[in-house]
Amino acid sequence: LAGLRTKRMGQKLHVYGEVDSTQTIAHALVASGAPEGTLVLAESQTSGRGRMGRKWHSPAGKGIWMSLVLTPRIPVYFMPQLTLLCAVALCRSVQKTAHVDAGIKWPNDLLVKGKKISGILLESSGEDERLKYVIAGIGISANLSVDDYPEELRSVATSLAIERGADVSREALVQSFLQEFEELYDLYLEKGFAPIRLLWEAQSVTLRRPIRTHTPQGIVEGMAESLDDSGALTVVTKEGERMKIYSGDIELK
Ligand code: BTN
Repeated sequence: LAGLRTKRMGQKLHVYGEVDSTQTIAHALVASGAPEGTLVLAESQTSGRGRMGRKWHSPAGKGIWMSLVLTPRIPVYFMPQLTLLCAVALCRSVQKTAHVDAGIKWPNDLLVKGKKISGILLESSGEDERLKYVIAGIGISANLSVDDYPEELRSVATSLAIERGADVSREALVQSFLQEFEELYDLYLEKGFAPIRLLWEAQSVTLRRPIRTHTPQGIVEGMAESLDDSGALTVVTKEGERMKIYSGDIELK
């Protein structure tokens, strides 16, 4: 990353060919003293991990599969704010370098024309209610072609190359993400979640849309109204009841 203009993010870089998961490698690097900002990149993953125990399809050479080490001294329950921050940084870098109209689906999927182009998975280790470290795992389907997707993913997933009709520079995109991320992360550590929340709302394709989600209390359907201070989604049901969704997945209707 020759032209990287960051102080910490990506300054320590570990690049691999095939790995099981960049997350696993990043956890091991932290255990051996890797500092904040350490980045693990791989050409392919054999067991890429997605949110909620899902697998992440990570074919060779065409995607950006990376994990970033973070050590914010914040309470464990602020983790959702960090995932939203990550999504804002990713959205801005995708718009700037790939020039596609990407938007954020709560909490942190990036969609282009309703299809997913990237996902974020945060894994943490905490102590005494404070985070010890967080591994931010980011997968961007940069230059995958339709043939790279298994049949069942084609209606729900797409890539930057498919959407813009030309490959993107993975190096430029990683660099741009690290710069956007560092800027927002420093802003967050200094000023808290409020400015990030506004930026998230501006990039969201979720707000003012009807949604459906499964909660421990059953299915909730309603209009996504706003994001609260903790990063939860406020939904207003048909009956006019206001509910908060703290985790999981939503369906845009
Ligand atoms: C999701 O949308 O479910 C999150 C997907 C996260 C995938 C990335 S790819 C790099 C990093 N390593 C993994 O095993 N997963 C994350």
